[in-house]
Amino acid sequence: MFEKIKATAQFLKDKTQFTPEVGIILGSGLGGLVKAIDVKHTFDYSEVPNFPVSTVEGHDGKLIFGLLGGKNVVAMQGRFHYYEGYPMQEVTFPVRVMKLLGVKTVFLSNAAGGLNPAFEVGDLMIICDHINFFPENPLRGKNMDELGTRFPEMSQTYNAELIARAKKIATDYKIKFQSGVYIGSPGPTLETPAEYNMFRLLGADATGMSTVPEVIVARHAGMECFGISVITNLAKPADTDKPTSHEEVQNVAQVAERNMTVVFTELIKSL
Ligand code: HPA
Repeated sequence: MFEKIKATAQFLKDKTQFTPEVGIILGSGLGGLVKAIDVKHTFDYSEVPNFPVSTVEGHDGKLIFGLLGGKNVVAMQGRFHYYEGYPMQEVTFPVRVMKLLGVKTVFLSNAAGGLNPAFEVGDLMIICDHINFFPENPLRGKNMDELGTRFPEMSQTYNAELIARAKKIATDYKIKFQSGVYIGSPGPTLETPAEYNMFRLLGADATGMSTVPEVIVARHAGMECFGISVITNLAKPADTDKPTSHEEVQNVAQVAERNMTVVFTELIKSL
């Protein structure tokens, strides 16, 4: 596997002559940040050797190299989800390629269901910590000693300095934000009311089907992490209010995405 990661990184280095210091992984429907990037090179995932083969037709993701906030970045527009059937090694493969390309900090976004009763649809949640509720850990198996240690420390998984700076940026720009714990579970089903209750009892503020595997692999390899969840729906089981309309959700998501782009860009500028 490590040979494959090296080969893919070498291919991208040869093609781009580009050294990104920031990696960005954009969640479903949150690819709009790409418009803020001064793009130098773009690859369909199908053009990148050893990248997982997309299972969804017409949903080919893109790997983008360019400048954002004055920094060299590599961005994934679309990620590989565990629920699509990829093994954890494939879900997290691009993160390890990022490491070999020179990435020091990884920024991640995702769409998530709000568990915290104070949350509203369209809120941004700065991720302060996570719970791995996937049935496995992406580091299970023989350790890749070239990348990191067997038993990685996880007491500060999301960089505290970046969280503090992001809160300041959001405040300065008058962007409403929440912060909290993200619980990552396999999906593809959304939670039953009983599962939502359980996640809340476990200490989570938002629930989704991604991010945790990538962050574990990034931390293993010594990269700093920063993440934002866009709260696309509320998961309060006791709520008998009328469900939010699809249009409403889309409009709110668009505003949330613009705000997320501001926070990511300003934060990257500050690195
Ligand atoms: N649950 C799990 N994943 C999600 C949700 C949710 O409610 N909303 C967006 N992704």
